[in-house]
Order: sequence, then C-alpha cells, then structure tokens
Amino acid sequence: MDAVKIRDDIYWVGGIDWNLRNFHGYLTPRGSSYNAYLIIDEKITLIDTVKYYLVDEMLERIKSVIDPEKIDYVISNHVEMDHSGGISKIMELAPNATVVASAAGEKGLREHYRKDWKFSVVKAGDSLSIGKRSFAFVPTPMIHWPDNMVTYCPEEKILFSNDSFGQHIASPERFDDELPLDIILEEAQNYYGNIVLSYNSQVQKALDVVGKLPIDLIAPSHGIMWRSHISDIVNKYTRWAFNKTETCALIVYDTMWGSTQKMAEAIRDGFESKGIKVRMKSLLHNHVSAIMPDVIDAKYVCVGSPTMNSNMVHTVAGFLAYMRALSPKNRTAFAFGSYGWGGQSIDQVQNELKNCGFDLLEPIKFKYIPEKKDLDAIKETVISYIK
Ligand code: FEO
Repeated sequence: MDAVKIRDDIYWVGGIDWNLRNFHGYLTPRGSSYNAYLIIDEKITLIDTVKYYLVDEMLERIKSVIDPEKIDYVISNHVEMDHSGGISKIMELAPNATVVASAAGEKGLREHYRKDWKFSVVKAGDSLSIGKRSFAFVPTPMIHWPDNMVTYCPEEKILFSNDSFGQHIASPERFDDELPLDIILEEAQNYYGNIVLSYNSQVQKALDVVGKLPIDLIAPSHGIMWRSHISDIVNKYTRWAFNKTETCALIVYDTMWGSTQKMAEAIRDGFESKGIKVRMKSLLHNHVSAIMPDVIDAKYVCVGSPTMNSNMVHTVAGFLAYMRALSPKNRTAFAFGSYGWGGQSIDQVQNELKNCGFDLLEPIKFKYIPEKKDLDAIKETVISYIK
C-alpha cells in the first residue's frame, strides 16, 4: 500500500476501513477512512494518524515515502482514537518527534496514552514553520470534543479540517470529483446529523474564521477531500449550522397493530395536500442514525407511538433520546399515536419534543382503530396546522 500524492511532497497516508458498519452507534453502510497526511519539507510532519487496527496500513504508506523515524512533528488535531490510535506507534518509531496539539489535546493525549512525549501546545494565532511551508492553527472546540482544532497551510491553501467536512466513505477515490457528488454530500449530511449537529453554535464560529481563509483543498480526517466542490460543502455546513430547514415534513413512528401507522399516513396526506414533501420513517425498518439526515432537512417533525404498558414504545423512546442529544433547533413538531385505554405515550412523546426545544402543535390521539372518516379528520387537522 502506497502513499497517495496530493501535491508535490504532500501525501495521504491514511487507512481505509472497508468493513466499518457501526461507528459508536451510528450506522456506516459505506465504511470509512481515517485520513492522515504526510508533508515533506525541511521538517517532516504527519497530521493525525488512524484507528489502532489500521496502524500497519498507515506505516506502510508512510514507508513508501520516508522512514517514519524522520518525522519531526506529529500534529494531532483531535484526540479521539480514530485519529490518535496510531500515535503511540509513530512516537515509538520517531521518539524525537514533537506532538503539536491544543492545550486540551495535550491533556487528552497524556490521559489516553500515559506517555511523556515532547509536546508543543498551540492556540489560536500560533503558527509553525517547517521550511517552505507553515501551519496556522484554528481551535474548533466542541466540534466535537474540547480538544479539536484544524490546521491550515497558507502556502498550499490546504485546510486539514479533521472531523469537520468529513464523511464515512471507504473508497479508493480520494477526491470529491472522483465519486458522484450526491453520494458524498449524502454521507457528509449523515455525518453532520450524527456527529456535529449538537455543536451548531461552535460550527457557526468556526465557519466565520475558516470562511476568511483562501482554501484550495479541504482535507478532512474521514472520507474524500474537497477540491472541486468546496463551496457546495461550505454552503451545506452553513445551512446545517444555522438550522435552515427545507419545507418538508418528517414522520417517525412505530406501530403495534397498524393504527398508529394509519395515522402516520393520514398525517402524510395532510402535508402532501398542502404541497409539502414528506419522508416516512418507520422505526421497525430504520435505524435512528439513518433518520438524522432527514431531521436536518425537516421543518416539521412528527413522532408517533402507540401506548404499551403505559408508555411510549422503546423504539420511539430511543429515537427521541438520540435526537434530543443531537440538539436540532427551529423545528415545528407534534406527537401522535393510537391507544387502547390510558394513552400516556402521546403526552410523553409531546413532552420529549418540548424538551427538544421545538415549537409545538397540538398532539393527535386516537382510541383503537381509526376508520376512513377518522383518518380524514386527522388529515384536516394537519392541514389546519400549516400556515
Ligand atoms: Fe473522527 Fe471525533 O473522530
């Protein structure tokens, strides 16, 4: 396995995780990559490493260019182990190298790896010259750990953006003009919805800083690099970070005997009769992480659960907990569901939607099995909700 040349003396030396299907609870049907970058200059620099089981792959790629013991700097943009998993091995091979990290990064690396490496702690405005090139550091705390930073090379106009702008894609292609753009953007949205969404306010600040930099290449730590569609992904990030939605509705539900599903379909008909596109996501058939990209787009979020044992069903509870943790804002929402006697689930779902900070519409409840006239009434209720 060889390094992939990006520019003269700049190489991708990461690892491709072909079999990754679950990234701490987030389904990754296309696998992923952990991107590390090697820059050969008067001082030799490695930016980030890879997950522990791909360290040998990274080393083989580095060795196709230089002996790893010649590495002078290891810039660690992020402590999380998918990017720092190879740092111990690199520091064994290059014991005189300096690890460059934010203050929280240094602390995190010491606490994770318990090694007394030589550290250089950097902050906003600091730069590091390695010869013909230099690096400037932009802290991006809580996108999505306290230690995160991005590294900018002004001479090359490359932003090494770590998790930001990444996507979980395993592929032999490395650039955004080598794969269909819709697939890359779909995975970028999936990534944003499941990893970054909680930190929208921090992304807004980071976009403000990064937006002032001339950038020819964004080199993230997952997936493909952006060189031909930089404005597309920056515009998307701006939309997502500012909670700009599409005029569409998302209906997420589970059902026991089909009544809540019938209600979901009547709600869909209500939206569609007003020209609003609807995405229907049954929790029997969709993983919660696969629904988050739809949450990003949805202006209306409707969540349905029947009542079972005086509660919402566990799939709906799981979805609501997952979504709430990711903190989408500026949505309009309501709960719905059928019930037999208590009907507690609907108020519970409504309460969780309130806890999400959404604007609420009246919940829709129905006892037992709705007939056509009941479904027509539900549809009319939804129509009355749409301004
Ligand atoms: Fe790709 Fe936060 O690690």
